[in-house]
Amino acid sequence: MDDPAFAVETDLQTQSILLAAANHDLRALRDLLRNSSANVRDPETGFAPLHAAVAACEPDDAAVVNGGANGDSTAEAAQSGEHDAKANEATRTIRLLFENGAIWNDLDSNGDTPACIAYRLGLKELYELFVDAGVRAELLLSRLGDYQPLGDGDSEDDTEEEEEEEEELADGVERVHLNGTEDASQPPDGSTENAAYLASNLTFARDRILDSSANGVMMEWESTLMRRSAQLLLPSSRLRVLNVGHGMGIIDGIFQEQSPMSHHIIEAHPDVLKRMKDRGWYEKPGVVVHEGRWQDVVPQLVESGELFDAIYFDTFAEEYKALRDFFTEHVIGLLDPAGGPNGNGGKFGFFNGMGADRQVCYDVYNKVVEMDLFEAGFDTDFESIAVPNLDADGEWEGVRRKYWVLDKYRLPTCTFIG
Ligand SMILES: C[S@@+](CC[C@H](N)C(=O)[O-])C[C@H]1O[C@@H](n2cnc3c(N)ncnc32)[C@H](O)[C@@H]1O
Repeated sequence: MDDPAFAVETDLQTQSILLAAANHDLRALRDLLRNSSANVRDPETGFAPLHAAVAACEPDDAAVVNGGANGDSTAEAAQSGEHDAKANEATRTIRLLFENGAIWNDLDSNGDTPACIAYRLGLKELYELFVDAGVRAELLLSRLGDYQPLGDGDSEDDTEEEEEEEEELADGVERVHLNGTEDASQPPDGSTENAAYLASNLTFARDRILDSSANGVMMEWESTLMRRSAQLLLPSSRLRVLNVGHGMGIIDGIFQEQSPMSHHIIEAHPDVLKRMKDRGWYEKPGVVVHEGRWQDVVPQLVESGELFDAIYFDTFAEEYKALRDFFTEHVIGLLDPAGGPNGNGGKFGFFNGMGADRQVCYDVYNKVVEMDLFEAGFDTDFESIAVPNLDADGEWEGVRRKYWVLDKYRLPTCTFIG
């Protein structure tokens, strides 16, 4: 590796691939990829070939301004034709790179994925190629997650494979993930893991709950989203509702406005439970508080035969898999098929916030969740709700990580099909 001639050759190869990708030169790229990876990176910009292929489509500003200023529609039309041709070439280049194993979510030195660049440049078609690649990758990962390897797991082969996997993880490349972690080589932050979160101390303020690492557990700006979900799930009084995750009690407070016949709440964090006691939640009409993790409480609820007209799910420091397990395995045992305000079946809703710190992650995750809900037998209605500029409102001051950066929330309401 210390051979300088080898280093120069590798560097040349990398630059040739990046150049071929930027020029959308399929023939050269195909040749180069025969004995080189599609995931090489420019040491300065951090660009991988996918970044280069997208960034090369940036419209020439000067030409746009000139065309516009002259009011020359022929020039504008020619320009738009040229732009389309470029986008087509870029599409073919991106496809070729994907076929050769290019990774869709690598970050450049600015912290951008290729999709972020496409989104910023308004290249919708290219952006969608990345969303689709992300969906494919996520589906594959979730299938692999469900896969139980055969064998006893301690043969020599297994150990070698594990070592290889660990080496791959430690390749130091930064990649963005749906849960907001940005480094595949790092384990998820302890404070965002459910068990560690439940053992940590919480800080309560008027407009937020923070965990011990200043991560936002719940924030008041979400009240609009909670109110709309509550309206759709529980539109009339005297119904039966289950809420998983009390947090600031925002949605539970709104459910109470409907004087539900029964109002079950599952909450696991001791600090939240203490606050619920202090605030009289245990004595409110119809309220039954279940102390513990939903994973432990729900099977008992199902066994007791308790049924609901509406269920809301919003926990913290859990992976998408937990939400998927909840709606795939458990909702069916809890939602009354003859319930709901019209007796047409109860409704299920959840906080749809996975991947919301980056547009492409939110779009990928939303496609995945829509497919998984369908597979679990739900008909889901998504309502788009505008989210104000939280930065301008100073919402993130004192919060470790912005978990929401988007201007639209997709609010899901699910009923069982048929
Ligand atoms: C985002 S907050 C819920 C906010 C709530 N929707 C509201 O309107 O205020 C998440 C809550 O879920 C709780 N939680 C986290 N993991 C849980 C689990 N496994 N089982 C039950 N509750 C959990 C947290 O302690 C926290 O109170």
